[in-house]
Amino acid sequence: MPSFMAIVAPGLENISAKELKFYSKSLKTFGFEYNNINTIKGGVEFESSFEHGLLSNHFLKTPVRILYRWGQFQEVLRTNDIEKAFESLDWFELLKGFKPEFHVSSFKSKMFHLQKLKQACEMSYRRVKIKQNIEVVKNRTTQKVYVRLSKNKMTVSLDTTGELLYKRGQNKAVNEAPLRENIASSLLWWLSLQVNKSFNLLDPMCGSGTFLIESQNLYKTHTQRKFQYQLWSTDTRELKLPELDIKPLIQNAYGIEVNPNTFKTLSTNTKDFKNIELLQADCTQVSKTDLNLSDSLPLIVLTNPPYEKRLHLKQTLSQTLEAINSNFQPEALFYIYPIDQHRNKKPSLTFRSGGLNLGLFKYT
Ligand SMILES: C[S@@+](CC[C@H](N)C(=O)[O-])C[C@H]1O[C@@H](n2cnc3c(N)ncnc32)[C@H](O)[C@@H]1O
Repeated sequence: MPSFMAIVAPGLENISAKELKFYSKSLKTFGFEYNNINTIKGGVEFESSFEHGLLSNHFLKTPVRILYRWGQFQEVLRTNDIEKAFESLDWFELLKGFKPEFHVSSFKSKMFHLQKLKQACEMSYRRVKIKQNIEVVKNRTTQKVYVRLSKNKMTVSLDTTGELLYKRGQNKAVNEAPLRENIASSLLWWLSLQVNKSFNLLDPMCGSGTFLIESQNLYKTHTQRKFQYQLWSTDTRELKLPELDIKPLIQNAYGIEVNPNTFKTLSTNTKDFKNIELLQADCTQVSKTDLNLSDSLPLIVLTNPPYEKRLHLKQTLSQTLEAINSNFQPEALFYIYPIDQHRNKKPSLTFRSGGLNLGLFKYT
């Protein structure tokens, strides 16, 4: 069976594996199956039909890229071995008219010098191009080809995604310190699995609204953007997506933002979502009634307070959290914070984002 690899933020691999298992189950009636789902550092490997692997780009929200494992080769020790391996791949069939861009990595292998390894890939491709009589087209589109050597075993993978998956194609404007969409989705997936019943979400320091928007799009298919695989050939361009009809656990999403300029951006970003409610205010000074919050469902707070030097809170973090907790009385309050600035607390989850080691903490 063809094999794929979802690239994921380190620390969030198990969540992406659960997301994949969820779709494997939900889409079974459409003949989809994702098997042998296995986490490795920074990724989730899985097997599926070629088409269903490519289509996973449209509904997975937690990875940043989906790679198709095109070929695996043992005992790759020198340039000649790379050339032999490349010769066995059908570049003409799949990548007609593309310009490969090689990305290489090496781990415990004889060929460890990355620049030389990249040159070896480029030279091998040039030779194979002549042998396979691959036509050279002007203005070719770039295709990322990932060559990974591990203990002399070489994996050649193709990027199926193109622009990274956290680009949802929705023209969202951002303000300071926005959270990447794939991280926000991962935390929302984690939260949904923990809560395991319908709930309302509140982000009391919501910035440009990433948590709010992702909460409403968690099970929706990406239809507003194109993916790299759709450029490959007519066969892949015309793959049909099933209509997903999954009832979301997160019903309404409420957002509070104090900065007037950020609030303007937030209002524009969320204007098409009927289940998102906003309030421009200092979250420590308002309560449930100001937000018109219904009591019919449990309320869970998930937020990303300012933690960088240039952005700061008016009160201390613990005063702010205490005020949110007493003003809104949520069933649970979770917040993101850098681990090294919060050593006395044990995080529920740890992950890397924007070059920082972050934790998801529960307010108690
Ligand atoms: C790190 S940013 C949140 C980014 C957001 N997760 C996103 O993806 O855009 C923190 C936000 O909290 C807002 N903020 C800070 N203190 C606040 C308060 N007391 N009440 C409401 N908003 C506040 C800031 O203006 C800023 O937009």
